[in-house]
Amino acid sequence: MTKDQLIEEAIKMREKAYVPYSKFPVGAALVTKSGKVYTGCNIENAAFPVTCCAERVAIFKAIADGEVVFSEMAVAAETKRPVPPCGSCRQVMSEFFDPKMRIHLTNLEYEIKTVSVEDLLPFSFQPEDLLSD
Ligand code: THU
Repeated sequence: MTKDQLIEEAIKMREKAYVPYSKFPVGAALVTKSGKVYTGCNIENAAFPVTCCAERVAIFKAIADGEVVFSEMAVAAETKRPVPPCGSCRQVMSEFFDPKMRIHLTNLEYEIKTVSVEDLLPFSFQPEDLLSD
């Protein structure tokens, strides 16, 4: 799976988004080290905060399927600049992805910004921080 193919998967997933409230579809595509692709779209709820972003849907699908080693992710939305992931998604990325893993953020004009997980969320709270000794 090339970077361009992963981006196309993310763009295509916007069609599956459940966004009756924001009308703002987002798509995500996550590839594992073994080459398996997990896609996600945002899924909203009448109780607005219950909404789950496209990125977390893709990550949770992969985790629930037993995957733990990831290589790249793409996120797409119709934005003026490459779509910036929300803070909650950045925290979830930092839990499961290597700090150096690349995330390709794009809009529909294919303005692509590739960043690392640690670029998105430096000094993130980590599982090790729960250990007191
Ligand atoms: N959203 C995502 O799915 N991913 C992002 O990176 C930004 C925001 C969703 C949440 C909500 O359904 C809609 O976009 C508007 O915030």
